[in-house]
Amino acid sequence: MNSQKRRDFLKLCIASVPALVFAHGVDADDTTGPAAALPVYRKPGSLERYIDPLPVPKRLMPQSTGEDGAQYRVRMLEFTQRMHSQLPPTRLWGYEGQYPGPTIEALRGTPIVVQWENHLPLRHIFDIDPRIHGAMPPAPAVRTVPHLHGSRSPSESDGLPEKWFTPGQSARYHYPNSQAAATLWYHDHAVGITRLNVYAGLSGFFLLRDDEEHAMNVPSGDYEVPLVLQDRTLDDEGQLVYSPTFDDGQKPPQHWWAPELFGDLPVVNGAIYPYLQVEPRRYRLRVLNAANSRFFNLFFNLAKSPTDIPSLVSFHQIGTDGGFLSNPVALNKVLLAPAERADLIVDFSGLEGKTVTLSNNAPAPFPGWDTITPHHLALLELMQFRVTLPLSSNGKSFSMPPPRPLPKLDETKSIATRDFVLAEGMDRQGRSLGLEINGKGYDDPVTEVVKLGSIEKWRFINNTEDAHPMHLHLVQFQILQRQGFNPVSLRKGNLELVGIPRLPAANEAGWKDTAVVNPQEVLTIIARFEGYTGRYVFHCHMLEHEDHDMMRPFEVVSDELKSPQR
Ligand code: C2O
Ligand code: CU
Ligand code: CU
Repeated sequence: MNSQKRRDFLKLCIASVPALVFAHGVDADDTTGPAAALPVYRKPGSLERYIDPLPVPKRLMPQSTGEDGAQYRVRMLEFTQRMHSQLPPTRLWGYEGQYPGPTIEALRGTPIVVQWENHLPLRHIFDIDPRIHGAMPPAPAVRTVPHLHGSRSPSESDGLPEKWFTPGQSARYHYPNSQAAATLWYHDHAVGITRLNVYAGLSGFFLLRDDEEHAMNVPSGDYEVPLVLQDRTLDDEGQLVYSPTFDDGQKPPQHWWAPELFGDLPVVNGAIYPYLQVEPRRYRLRVLNAANSRFFNLFFNLAKSPTDIPSLVSFHQIGTDGGFLSNPVALNKVLLAPAERADLIVDFSGLEGKTVTLSNNAPAPFPGWDTITPHHLALLELMQFRVTLPLSSNGKSFSMPPPRPLPKLDETKSIATRDFVLAEGMDRQGRSLGLEINGKGYDDPVTEVVKLGSIEKWRFINNTEDAHPMHLHLVQFQILQRQGFNPVSLRKGNLELVGIPRLPAANEAGWKDTAVVNPQEVLTIIARFEGYTGRYVFHCHMLEHEDHDMMRPFEVVSDELKSPQR
């Protein structure tokens, strides 16, 4: 049965079978013979939890080695994959036909080249809102451009939103890997449709390693597990639905943009409610929030159900977006906004036979101060760890990373402070018309010109009701502080800071490329703009916001070009 026929058949089943559970006919992809058991499909709302093992994305191997480094080839493909064993296969887009994409591993100081090829069909899985800049006709529906998030790469290889290419086209990107070991990730960045391309499945891990990491005795191999957290909504046929909403929970007219997307099912490494069997020992979990809009406030819970009194397993955070922290930080919960990463060590020893549920209590939207009644499902659970494997006999015992120096960028060396007011335009019913930075959209001329090698402070002034995870390309920055401001004086054009400045929490006091600015708050970061000259971008990483239009370019220029002849 081809997939169209199967979909029609499923429609028939759904129409004619009132019960939630129904069997369906013989299907070429999931039957080994006439005697094989027929799969029992369920509606997405009634899927059994924790019956599928956690998939771990395969590592991508290079095709060859060239003068400019190992050569990788990554094809973007449309394919189907099961997200849960009680669902039929879901149509997806993915790098190398996988969701999430294969993991690329690289070594500091060893450049690699990736040939990114667009082999997607000419029709998009989702409807495009043609009113959004960059997605207006005659822009083709299917456009992609991959970005290596968190990397310091030349502008031509950064995956700028307007450098998209269409099916049949490709791009060759050079990644110098001249930065510390970190959990990086790659994802699509095409202007005006990033939210749709990533939602379709275009994201994957890029683990950058270095000698310092190799010298540590942190868990590795089977004991190092990457976890990409997302949320998705599926229809009764198990197919992706992209259905964004306004702050009041209402849906926009069909095909139109709206400011947030909350899926009603948790997806970890491409699977819905998976489980992982673990040994009673330390594991390193490299956690990435790759959801469109959803924040996760994560904790490890021994309680049987989310309504029981939680019994938390404490853990350590050893790394942030851009690398290792100076010291492991003991935590009970960790907040991850879209695009943030947390490198965690969780110790399952002493928990033999127990089940630990990766749980979440972040409201959607976040922080939701203005909403008394939530409009969206909170995804209270994501996956299970079952401490059921015996301690492997040859298993060595892993340790925490040793303390390491983490030099602070010197505030007195900062040569400029730039202010960015984040605002949301509203119609008469209080519904979002789009977001902006300093009253500008992405297409407005460049206003930020930064000298190569210089240190600057950037202040994000959040004049909206939502928290925004602000992300800069090219750099890893440090958080200096967060502080309230007086909205009345801001309306008159003055930034008046009020209240006590808050320093970053211990687990944020490392290298970051994405940081949360809460409503009615100013986030101050400091960065050194080193590496390359050229065009880069910064934006909110809630993909709905980024697409419309909370994104701006910046330009890094060489000092020499500007100064008079020597
Ligand atoms: Cu994760 Cu501009 O990117
Ligand atoms: Cu990025
Ligand atoms: Cu935002």
